[in-house]
Amino acid sequence: TEAAKALRGRDLTSISDLSVQELAAILELAHAVKGRPEDFRHALDAKQMVLIFEKASLRTRLTFETAINTCGGNAIFVDQTQSVLGERESLADVAHNLERWVDVIVLRTYAHETVTEIGENAKVPVINALSDYEHPCQAIADFCTLEERFGSCEGLKFTYVGDGNNVCHSLMLAGALLGAHVTVATPKGYEPELDVIHKAIAFAEQTGGSIQLMHDPVRAVTGADAVYTDVCISMGQENEATKRTPIFRPYQVNEDLMKHAAEHSVFMHCLPAHRGQEVTDAVIDSAQSIVFDQAENRLHAQKALLLMLLGGAKRIPRDRGM
Ligand code: CP
Ligand code: NVA
Repeated sequence: TEAAKALRGRDLTSISDLSVQELAAILELAHAVKGRPEDFRHALDAKQMVLIFEKASLRTRLTFETAINTCGGNAIFVDQTQSVLGERESLADVAHNLERWVDVIVLRTYAHETVTEIGENAKVPVINALSDYEHPCQAIADFCTLEERFGSCEGLKFTYVGDGNNVCHSLMLAGALLGAHVTVATPKGYEPELDVIHKAIAFAEQTGGSIQLMHDPVRAVTGADAVYTDVCISMGQENEATKRTPIFRPYQVNEDLMKHAAEHSVFMHCLPAHRGQEVTDAVIDSAQSIVFDQAENRLHAQKALLLMLLGGAKRIPRDRGM
């Protein structure tokens, strides 16, 4: 398709890099690779992916490595938790080295600019695997999960409760691109960034979706199809724990809050969860919780993303042999 062609060779640093059609194409391919993974076993043959992570990871690392390994490629993991990228040599020099060896660069950083600067300098695709500003791979997997549950995200009432930061930003942008009604409830002072709000509103205007911001979690959750939360102390903010914990206490997703959501509603979390803080065990372990479906779909969604960016979406149906 046109969207698939347009994505070849590109970076994914933010959901706002994508058009409505491009996000839809990634999701469509994610469902296809989930249904028939064997058709893609050689789709990324010999492709090399490097993962450079300044922060800890379970899901993102494992799903990227599994995704490329099961499509015939290979992953190299660089533990960057002991120092910040760009300290030992410039980010441009890092980019100009990496592009000579690998086909795709996956970065988990503190500063979002680290991802964009390597992206601007490297000739190969650069993927944001979580920065302090966005978590696009998470949002793609999450809306893939919602499409499985609800068929489509158009008109879906999606509520995020908690810190208006990286995960929230990507969810707002992706939800708006898919025509969802996105409501975000944060404490005062923890709202999403203004430029993300503006971009998300502009996307929603194209798709018939909407963006609403508020401080009242009960009003935000009322009638919601999906209720999503994230930790209120993100990686790198550990020293703010005593300040943040009481501020976020009224935003905890517990059974009382979930009572206001629609009967058929689902509970979502990117994980890792700080159980007993932003969410109770009773909610995250309930039948409404789809957190492990989200985690599973990180694999399928990132496989689709790699296939699109590396232009290797060559499908070899099993019945036609090799
Ligand atoms: N949700 C997520 O990105 O998990 P990790 O931090 O374990 O990668
Ligand atoms: N907001 C969290 C998400 C972790 C996947 C963090 O940045 O630590």
